Amino acid sequence: MIRNDRLTPSFKVPRACRRNRGIHAPPLRGSLPRCRFLMVPTPWLGTWAVDHRGIATVAKGRDSGMPSAEQWESYFDPAGILDSLGCHQLSGDVVEFGCGYGTFTIPAAQRTSGTVHALDIEPEMVAATASRISQANVKNVVVDQRDFVVDGTGRAPHSASFVLLFNILHIEEPAALLQEAFRVLHPRGQLGIIHWNHDPRTPRGPPLAIRPHPQQCRSWGERAGFKWAREVILPGSPWHWGIVLQMPHC
Ligand SMILES: C[S@@+](CC[C@H](N)C(=O)[O-])C[C@H]1O[C@@H](n2cnc3c(N)ncnc32)[C@H](O)[C@@H]1O
Repeated sequence: MIRNDRLTPSFKVPRACRRNRGIHAPPLRGSLPRCRFLMVPTPWLGTWAVDHRGIATVAKGRDSGMPSAEQWESYFDPAGILDSLGCHQLSGDVVEFGCGYGTFTIPAAQRTSGTVHALDIEPEMVAATASRISQANVKNVVVDQRDFVVDGTGRAPHSASFVLLFNILHIEEPAALLQEAFRVLHPRGQLGIIHWNHDPRTPRGPPLAIRPHPQQCRSWGERAGFKWAREVILPGSPWHWGIVLQMPHC
C-alpha cells in the first residue's frame, strides 16, 4: 500500500514551521494559517521547504543523493545487518526512516509479523520500494511518501517494536529523528542505527564533515531518553558501523 499525505487537501502547520515562528514571524494565535510549501532542491544542502511567508526550512536531508540500486546494495548484507541489530522474530511494527530503494524494507518485513512502515520523501524511492514489495508479494509493508523532518512519522505513540535509522543521521536535525523514534517505540522497543564509517576510503557516503560517529548518535539518543544497548559488527558490510539503543524499561 502506498500513502501520500501530501495529496490530502488540508496541510497542517509542520513542526519545523512552528519552530521558526518566534524568530521570523509573529506568534501564531487562534486558528493557524495554512502552510503550503514550495520544495527547492539545492546541490549540497538538501531540499528546502519554503512556506507562504518565504521562510525556508530544510525538508529532505542534505546529501541524500543515491547511486543505482545495484551499486547501493553492493555495500550491504541487509539480512545480516538486521539480524545482528536484533531486528528479527518481532511481533510488532517496524518504522523505517528513509527507505530508499527498499534495501532493508523487505528483509525487515520478513522478520516481523507486524507491519513495516517505510517512509521516504522521494516519489522515486517510494515507487521503487512499492514495486519491490509487489514483486516479492510481501503484504505487511505500508510505504508512505512523507517528509519526516517536517511532519514526523505519523505513527501513534508507543506503537512500534523496532525503528530503523539507516544512513540518515547526517541530516540537519538528527536529534529530532531520535526524539520521534523514542515517541513511537513501545516500552520494550529498540532502535537500530547504521551509518558509513568515518573514513575517507569508503566508496560513498556523505562528506566526512557531516557523517555522524557512533558516539554522537549514542549521545543524541540518550538525550532523547534512550538507553545504550550495544555496538555491533555488521556482517558483510565493511563500510558501516551499527549500534542499538533501547527504551529505558527494556
Ligand atoms: C542515504 S538514503 C538511505 C536509504 C535506506 N535507509 C538505506 O540505508 O538503504 C536516505 C533516504 O532518506 C530519504 N530522506 C532524506 N530526507 C528525508 C526526509 N526529510 N523525509 C523522508 N525521507 C527522507 C531520502 O530520499 C533517501 O531515500
